[in-house]
Parts: sequence; structure tokens; C-alpha cells
Amino acid sequence: EPVRLADYRVPAFLIDTVHLDIRLDRTRTRIVATLAMRPNAAADSPAPLELDGDGLDFVAATLDGRALPPEAFSVSAQRFTLAAPPQGPFVLAIETVLDPSANTQLMGLYRSNACYCTQCEAEGFRRITYFLDRPDVLSVYTTRIEARRDEAPTLLANGNRIEAGVLGDGRHFAVWHDPFPKPSYLFAMVAGDLAVMRDRFTTRSGREVTLEIHVEHGKQERCAYAMDALKRSMRWDEEAFGREYDLDIFMIVAVSDFNMGAMENKGLNVFNDKYVLALPETATDQDYANIEAIIAHEYFHNWTGNRITCRDWFQLCLKEGLTVFRDQEFSSDQRSRPVKRIADVKTLRAQQFAEDGGPLAHPVRPEVYSEINNFYTATVYEKGAEVVRMLKTLVGDAAFAAGMDLYFVRHDGQAVTIEDFIACFAEASGRDLGQFMLWYRQSGTPEIAAEGRWDEASATYTLTLRQTLPPTPGQPQKEPMLFPIRLGLVGGAGDLPITLEGRPFEGVVAFGRPAQEFVFGNVAEKPVPSLLRGFSAPVKLVLDLGEDDMLTLLARDSDPFNRWQAAQNYATRVLLRLVADPSSPLDPRFVEAVRRILAEGRRDPAFGALCLALPSEADLAREIGRDVDPDAIHRARQGLRAALSRVLAADLAHAVETLVVDGLYSPQARDAGLRSLRNVALDLACAGGGTAALERAQAQFDGSDNMTDRMAALTTLAFSATAAGERALARFHERYGDDPLVVDKWLSVQAMIPHESTLARVKELMRHPAFSLHNPNRVRALVGAFSSGNQTQFNRPDGEGYRLLRDVVLTIDPKNPQLAARLLGAFKAWRALESGRRALAEASLREIVARPSLSRDVADIAGRALA
Ligand code: ARG
Ligand code: ZN
Repeated sequence: EPVRLADYRVPAFLIDTVHLDIRLDRTRTRIVATLAMRPNAAADSPAPLELDGDGLDFVAATLDGRALPPEAFSVSAQRFTLAAPPQGPFVLAIETVLDPSANTQLMGLYRSNACYCTQCEAEGFRRITYFLDRPDVLSVYTTRIEARRDEAPTLLANGNRIEAGVLGDGRHFAVWHDPFPKPSYLFAMVAGDLAVMRDRFTTRSGREVTLEIHVEHGKQERCAYAMDALKRSMRWDEEAFGREYDLDIFMIVAVSDFNMGAMENKGLNVFNDKYVLALPETATDQDYANIEAIIAHEYFHNWTGNRITCRDWFQLCLKEGLTVFRDQEFSSDQRSRPVKRIADVKTLRAQQFAEDGGPLAHPVRPEVYSEINNFYTATVYEKGAEVVRMLKTLVGDAAFAAGMDLYFVRHDGQAVTIEDFIACFAEASGRDLGQFMLWYRQSGTPEIAAEGRWDEASATYTLTLRQTLPPTPGQPQKEPMLFPIRLGLVGGAGDLPITLEGRPFEGVVAFGRPAQEFVFGNVAEKPVPSLLRGFSAPVKLVLDLGEDDMLTLLARDSDPFNRWQAAQNYATRVLLRLVADPSSPLDPRFVEAVRRILAEGRRDPAFGALCLALPSEADLAREIGRDVDPDAIHRARQGLRAALSRVLAADLAHAVETLVVDGLYSPQARDAGLRSLRNVALDLACAGGGTAALERAQAQFDGSDNMTDRMAALTTLAFSATAAGERALARFHERYGDDPLVVDKWLSVQAMIPHESTLARVKELMRHPAFSLHNPNRVRALVGAFSSGNQTQFNRPDGEGYRLLRDVVLTIDPKNPQLAARLLGAFKAWRALESGRRALAEASLREIVARPSLSRDVADIAGRALA
């Protein structure tokens, strides 16, 4: 029963218009869907009409206004079939009932905090009514919602509100019409007793747009930043991509039970409340940055996803990779481009490289799936964005812009494929992008080995690149891929003005053969190669540089990304040496480099903070690659931190004292950068266990006026495993215990404490009244943070971490399979562990697979993890 890209067929029928009549009731909501349909002229032969359903309760149906005789159709919870549908246009009306209160999957129509809401991507619409629930069926929707006025004074759906009124017996209704044809996954409806924050935006062509953010009563003041981010996103899309908003109203609703981050339903985005609500007192700088990025992401989907949508779910990266690329560009323009790039690459390596290197690896465009919800992955999203970024680097800014314009003009209103998208850039640039398409088909992280040779006599530098494409599930053999490699050669005074094939070198080479030589001219001194600048391709670069050369790049590379990368590479080398031999002495040049980063950090504090942060335990585990012992990694890293803390005590104390932000809290990048540098310094200062530093953290915890600094101090204190840490945790809960989003931070920090008592603590917290297995945010904050954010304790040598995750996954699976499957992703790197842990992880996975009546979601992840 897996679905295959190769089996795609155009739909046999089309649905031109949909009239949905929704009569809301907590346990018996009645839906009448009236579908104006016709056979699809592009389909092969007449076929029966088969509509998708999922757990539906059928009541009645009419065809062209007449009741359908029982022999004319068949119906089950999963399917509605007309064996002999009309040969021309017809109107099919189907009535169903459903119970929103019993919907714990959070797909389809469900209740969250006394509010009715929907989530239809990818296949949730079929849980509301029988439908051709596939993205290439585009229809114009009219939605009438009726509910009790006291229970749901606010009634929202896609498009513009065209009618509203009061009915007898305490009920009322609203009718919404969305003029833009859309697939069913973009349908949304929300009803409840909600507060609203309003604003307005004038598009550059003069359309007046009402902006609304709907939230729980009392939370309106927490929407100001999201609203501001929305207006900046709308302006930016006009300026950067020439894209304007197209309806008279744009609405965002924040709900507290949501399986993902947010959803781009046409004109009615539904958000996980953690990506909307923020006050300095409750949200960190990172929360603000996430809100800005996700508000932008969902808004940008209006063009890349909604106006132009996907032909089928294999094309998911068509909208997600492109929209992530667009939100990354937005954040880069709003903040610091290099800092944003480094942050994105860190996420890419942590999430996507881990996925690509393990049993769950799949291409950016998968070719087979058994459960599409399991493909909303770092590979589809983040690697998908990298592929768009590489395309821009390869064809150049002008051709990329022309290709985007062509895409918008040519495909507006269509459901298209990656081939359609790439064809626009092939046309705009005049280049053959055939080889580039392999980025969508071949999974795994390519490795590029580089070697350079300088010839003094001819003043040339020969760079040899070799590519290796490791085997991945289902792909033992691969074809050579095309990489844009941005590079420079760094000399004593910075970048050398080199030539390639006799012309001034522009900075990028296209590397597409198994091995290739590039001969640069005008290289008058022995250079240090700076390769893969800006991380121009999502690859593992293997280049053997000495410490001297790393220090040269750190000091003189014109590319900030590679300056950061040089610091990381040096730290990684030091740490790997310590993992292999815990007694290796501290490298004095490394200490000096750290001291200099700290001293110079205040010039660009956010960048300084990134350079100062040591590679994470997970980074080192990936670097080691096999037979990983998380305890050895942890000991090495803690040892280095403690040693640095002692030798740099004075420098760190000075940094903590002097890196202060003036004035009131503002989430803007400059202030956030200062805070992050100070907090990295504070944390490192405490790593040596000195009381003065811990007292400084205590003072910051007690006295800070914002959540960023308070949370940073809490983390440092909690990780110190001291009585002060326990006191701070208790105080924090006293103060914020009634604020669920802040409670999540409290749960997460405890789940990530690298101490053997953490497993018992997590089990204890699962019984805490603030915790609930039904709320995805609570579960991710506690169990997700433990299993994905605590290397040593999840990977306990006794296997208890794996057993805890196994039990939680099996408990949640019958209620919310998507959430359960998502948690199970923590096993994505289990094969890289040392043999003892590997056996224990495998045993837990096998126990999951052995459970009868697993959801398709969990069975798919566990099955692939074991394959
Ligand atoms: N389209 C949404 C977004 O990226 C995410 C929806 C996730 N859906 C799912 N079934 N996992 O903005
Ligand atoms: Zn998206």
C-alpha cells in the first residue's frame, strides 16, 4: 500500500466549487458538503468516482438534488463511491456528522481550549467530509459556519466574510467566500470565544488589508511582535519578490493544541501559540526570532504554496524548501545575514545531516511513502531550502530573479512539480539543469575532498575536488552531482586577486564531475584555501588544514561564515583529541584564539557568541560517526569547558561585567547579540565550578528584567547540579507556573540536565499537574527535549532512556500518531552508537514494532529505522 510518485495519475474528476455548511456542536457537528463536479477531460477513461474519507460517519447524499438510491453508491468510514457517475457536470451533496471533542489526533476538525479549529494538511480534510483530498484538485470554497453565539462568538474561515447573522435559539452564522481556487489541504475554519488584535496594511498597489490576530482572552498584548513581523513580511515580499497580498483580510489564530509550528491556510493561518505570543517577561530572544521567521514563512506561503501549489505530496519541497529559503532571506535582511546563515547551517547539520546519515534518509523529493505526515522533515524543508539557495548561486542573482518571476507568471493558479519549477530557471539562465535535478532525487550528504597545490614558479594554485556520495537506504549507487563551490584564496593581506582560465575569478566554481581540477592564476604567495564560503552547498567538506591555516582563516578570511567555520574546526580538532585521549594537554594557541574571540566579540557580539560556542555533543557524535560513546564525548567537552573556564577566568568575568545592554529590553538583533555573547561567557565562566561565577549567574537569575537572561542563568544554574540550581528551578516554577509556554521552558531545561538523575526527574515531571500527554507542546518540551536534546541521558548505558521513549510513544500513539511518530525520530542516529547502546536502542525499537495495531505513522518510522 505505499504510494509511489511513478504511479501519479491526473484526477478522474474535478471539483469546481465547494459549499460547506458546518453546524458546530461539541460532540455532534453536522457537515453538508455540496460539490459541483465534472469528469476531468484530461483523464484517460471514465472511472467510478471515489472520494476519500477518514473515520467519517455518513448520513445522507443527493445527486443533482435527488436522494441517491442505496444501489447507486457505497460508503464506508474511509470511502464514498459512485459506481456510475454522470458523464457531464453534476452536483453531489453529502452530509456527515463528526465529534470534534473526540478528535485527539489534531487532524481535521477538533477542539483546543474550548475553540473549534481545523488542520487539513496533508490529509485532514477527509476527516471532515468525503472529498478528492489531493492537492491537484483546486476548488472555490464557500463556507457557512453556524454555532451557539455564547460558545463561539467568533466564526472564521478562508477568504472574505460575505454574510453574517443571528438565528433563533441562541445561534448565529457567518458565510465566508474564498475566490482563489485551492486544494482541500488549505481549507480552514475556526470558531470560539477569542480576543482579537487588529491592524491594517496597504499593499503597494493600494489594496487595504485588515490584519487580525485571534488569541485567548487576556493574551492580546502578547501579539504585538507577531503583528509587527507580519507587516514587515508583507512589505518585504513586495520588495524582494514582487509579491502582493490578494484578499481584503489576513487572519492568524493562535491555538494551544497543535501538532506542528503553524499552517498557511488561505487567508487564515493557524499557529501553535508558542510562535505567536511573546512578552519580554515570557519569551526569549530565540522565541522572538522564531516568531518572526514563522509568521513570515506562513505568510510567504500565500504565493509559494497557495497561489502556486503542489501537484502531489511528493512535491512537498516545491512549497516548503522554497518557502524556507524565502523566510531565511527575510530574516537575513531583517537581522545579520552572516549570523542567520551560521544559525541555519547549524540547524541543517544538527537535524538534516543526522537524518541523511541514518536509516531515515530520503531524497528532498521522496519517491515513495506510506505516511506522508512523516515527510515533513529537515530534508524536505531545510535541505530543500539549500537546494534553492544553490540554484541561486549557480545561475546568479539576476537569472534567479527572472526565474522566480517566470514561475509566478506561468504557474499562478496551478498545482505543479519540481520539474516545472526548475524549468523556469533553466529558461531564465539558458543553462541545462539536468544534473542539478539529482539534488531532488539522491539522498545522503555528499562528501567533497579537497586538495590544493601551490606552484611558486608559475604562480598557480591547483585545487583538486573529489566527490563521494555515500550509499543510503534504497540508493546503493549514485551519479555525480553538481555543486556550486564558493571560494577564495587567502594571503597575508586577505583575499588574493586570483584568475581562473585567464579571467578575474568571480568567486564560484561549478563542480560536477567525480573529480575535477581548477587551476587559479596570479597566486603570488602561498595561500590558505577558503572553500565552501557561506556554506555554498550542503556537503561535508574534507580538507586537511593545519592549525596555522585555521588561525589564518579565523583572523583574515573575508567570508564571515568561514571565519566561524575555522573556529569550529579548530575546536572540533581539540575536542576529538580529548575524546580519544582525555589526558591530552590544553593547546595554548587554542586558548589564545578563544581569548581573542572573547575580546573582539563585542564588535559583532552575535557572531562572537557563535564563534565562542563549542561544537555540541551531537556535532561531535556526528563527526565521530560510528561506535559513538556519548559519555566520552560529554566528559571531553566538559573537561575542555572547565579548563577554559579556569585559564580564562579573568577574561570571562570581564566580559560578563562589561557586555551589558542599555535601556529597556528590546528583541532587536543588536541587543539580542550582546545578550547571547554575555550568556555564553557566563555559562563558560561557570563551567569551572567557581563560586564567584555561579553567584553572578544567581544574581542574573534573580535580577533580570527579561526571559532571555533569566532563562540563560537558569540553564547554567540547573546544569551545575548544585543546590542553587534546584532553588532556581523551584523559584522559576513559583513565578511562572500558570503560564504554559513558560512552563515548557521549565520542563525542557530539566529534561536536558546532563546528570544521571535526569531520567527519574523526567518521569516525576510526567506526573506533574502542569504536564499532559495530550498537549503536543508539553510532550515535546519534556520528552522531546530529553530524547533529542540530552545526549548522555537519553543514551544511558542501561537503556532506560530508550525504554522511557518507547513507553511514551506507545502511550501516545493511539491518541495522536503524528506526535508519537515525531518523538520517535530521536532514534534517527541509533546505528552510529557503540554496540551496547546500539543493541538496547534496537531492542526498544523492536518492542515498538511488535505492538499490535500501531498507527501507520509510528509503524513507518520504526520500520524504516530498523530496516
Ligand atoms: N505547511 C506547514 C508549514 O510548513 C506545516 C504543516 C505540517 N503538516 C503536517 N502534516 N505535518 O508551514
Ligand atoms: Zn511551510
